Amino acid sequence: MIEALREGTYLILSWHMPRVNVLNPDSMQAFAEAVESALTDSNIHGIVITSQNKEFIAGADIETILHLMQAKDLKALYDASWRIQSIFLRLETGGKPVVAAINGTALGGGYELALACHHRIALNDPSIEIGLPEATLGLMPGAGGTQRLPRKIGLLSSLELILEGKRLSPQQALHRGLVEELVSSKEELIERALAWLHAHPSATNPWHQKDFHLPGFKVQSEMGRNAFAAAIARLRERSYGHYPGLQNALSAIYEGLQVPFIQGLEIESQYFARTLATATAYAMVKTLFFERQRLLRLPHRPPKMPPASIRKVAVLGAGMMGRAIGYVCAVAGYDTWIKDTDESALQVAEKFSQDLLAKAVTHGRLSPNEADKIRQRLHYTTTYEELAETDLVIEAVFENRAVKTQVYREVRPFLSEKGIIGSNTSTLPITSLAEAAGIPKRFIGLHFFSPAERMPLLEIILGKETSPETLAWALDFAKQIGKVPIVVRDGRGFFTSRVFGTYVREGLRMLKEGIPPALIENLGRQAGMPVGPLALADEVSISLMYSILRQTEADLGITLSDDPVSEIGRLFVEELQRPGRKANKGFYEYPSDGKRKYLWPELAKYFPQRSVSFTEYEDLKDRFLYVQVAEAFRAYQEGILLEKADGDVASVLGWGFAPFTGGVFHFVEWVGKERFIARMQKLTEQYGERFYISSL
Ligand code: NAI
Repeated sequence: MIEALREGTYLILSWHMPRVNVLNPDSMQAFAEAVESALTDSNIHGIVITSQNKEFIAGADIETILHLMQAKDLKALYDASWRIQSIFLRLETGGKPVVAAINGTALGGGYELALACHHRIALNDPSIEIGLPEATLGLMPGAGGTQRLPRKIGLLSSLELILEGKRLSPQQALHRGLVEELVSSKEELIERALAWLHAHPSATNPWHQKDFHLPGFKVQSEMGRNAFAAAIARLRERSYGHYPGLQNALSAIYEGLQVPFIQGLEIESQYFARTLATATAYAMVKTLFFERQRLLRLPHRPPKMPPASIRKVAVLGAGMMGRAIGYVCAVAGYDTWIKDTDESALQVAEKFSQDLLAKAVTHGRLSPNEADKIRQRLHYTTTYEELAETDLVIEAVFENRAVKTQVYREVRPFLSEKGIIGSNTSTLPITSLAEAAGIPKRFIGLHFFSPAERMPLLEIILGKETSPETLAWALDFAKQIGKVPIVVRDGRGFFTSRVFGTYVREGLRMLKEGIPPALIENLGRQAGMPVGPLALADEVSISLMYSILRQTEADLGITLSDDPVSEIGRLFVEELQRPGRKANKGFYEYPSDGKRKYLWPELAKYFPQRSVSFTEYEDLKDRFLYVQVAEAFRAYQEGILLEKADGDVASVLGWGFAPFTGGVFHFVEWVGKERFIARMQKLTEQYGERFYISSL
């Protein structure tokens, strides 16, 4: 697990775990023994810590963490953290210089180990990530991170890095002071590390010295107090108190930096234990780590299917979605053609990719050489000829059945023998598009989320006749482009748009009930959604929601008058000509001078407002979340979703459903089943059947 290699009077300790290097009881035991024997061997004058795996150390073993969490035993949690703290402390104060030779990703506990060394040298490879991202999983550092980082780089910068859980490239890490040196090869890494040991035989960390001062300013100084006041305000604004891990990390930094270092570590371990015992930390780790990892292993891939042979990809439509999808494909290594009928759309698409690549190079996430290669893989065209022998066509033209049907017919002759078509439609049933395309077995839904270059989810929709081979190809493709795939069956709005649409509709209902729009928006965010429902309606566009409603009515031969989009759509689209963000007019006004958008003042004229007492706030907030949960259960019961946990991941990654709850299904457990049922029944009685769930 930890291999030791002598280099003269120095010892190189290399982490080498079978799957991935992580901190768990076994690896810590092995590491502690290796450290102890190095420290007590008088022939050894210094230590290099590195890894033989691709990664340096990925972090704490989340399986161990989940186990500990389930027990909710504060003492056991504290002890687990303290055990690691004491090993790192021993390494740091053992009297011999130690260098971290960071050959790969060093996150969480992995970077905390590096912080306990006396010097950090990293390989300058843009794919390497360095930082303390615990907060993004509802956790906080528990191996010294909240104490060593601020003592090393100062309060302001470390507050930002820890509370936002930022992952840095080696170049960014150097710039922010998280590492001291970069090298360009693995050989150089060890050479430099040994040279540093040679030059610094009695290295210690500054926070162990008597006259140590926090870099920049102290906690109890005017600057310090301002920094914390600002951090608390920012935290509150971003999280509305939903993330105990963030508050605890902040407290650990605040309290720990006013006491001697070792006491600071104890404070950190206490807050760490408290954080891990919360329902929120458990919910987030389960959904955002475990279930996400499970989906990345493609559990819904039909067995025994050969791997996809996709070499050439064609994206039809270079609009907002198509250009980003094309970029993602080229980054993933596919020879990619973006086709549009509109030359100017192609120019915009090309500039879009150029800008993203330039930015990635500036931030050290791509080397200039890699960026060039990606650029060479991207082609733009207005004709089909270049698309010959395409293995995967991704269609992202206008959301219009006739236009889509036409491009399927046109592109078919250019597909390779086994080539498939994936539609990025957000609303049109896949089975009907597949029939129109004439190759229903080789047709599937590939629903990306905007902005596609950043959003991590891909919703794969099966048509009635989609073949297992096509599904296997779609899943292999998702893996190649680094997206988390969920597989759903066909149905109106599939899973994501269907459930997420109920959030927007609930906001529209409130508007009709006379709840002041600003309150609707604020309570939506306070409930845990990333954006208020009216702002979201503007983004999606009221006209699109209205046209989908009309299309559904036409398809089903019914009128959906209970749907708030019916009345509000007619008013905003037909009468007021305020279709949404695209036209700079919707529920919001979008000033042309770049100033911040604001709610349209005349809303009050069309929706007379009533006063809302403070006691009603809880109901309003719960309505936003419970309505989505109920719809998710209905979709599951109708067989749209293959597994509930898939829906949890999709809800958090796809539309930002209150991440601290672990998603639309785990929500029930997070609230507590009994409490949930009581609340659901009350909301049903008071507000209607849309909150009712027949079986949990
Ligand atoms: P858009 O209007 O920005 O882009 C559509 C592009 O298709 C335009 O550049 C247009 O010139 C091009 N086009 C039209 N007819 C064509 C043809 N015959 N051949 C080649 N290109 C043609 O639309 P957007 O937003 O990119 O949406 C595209 C698709 O993605 C739609 O089906 C939409 O429902 C879906 N979608 C949109 C999302 C969004 O957030 N906007 C999210 C997920 C899916």
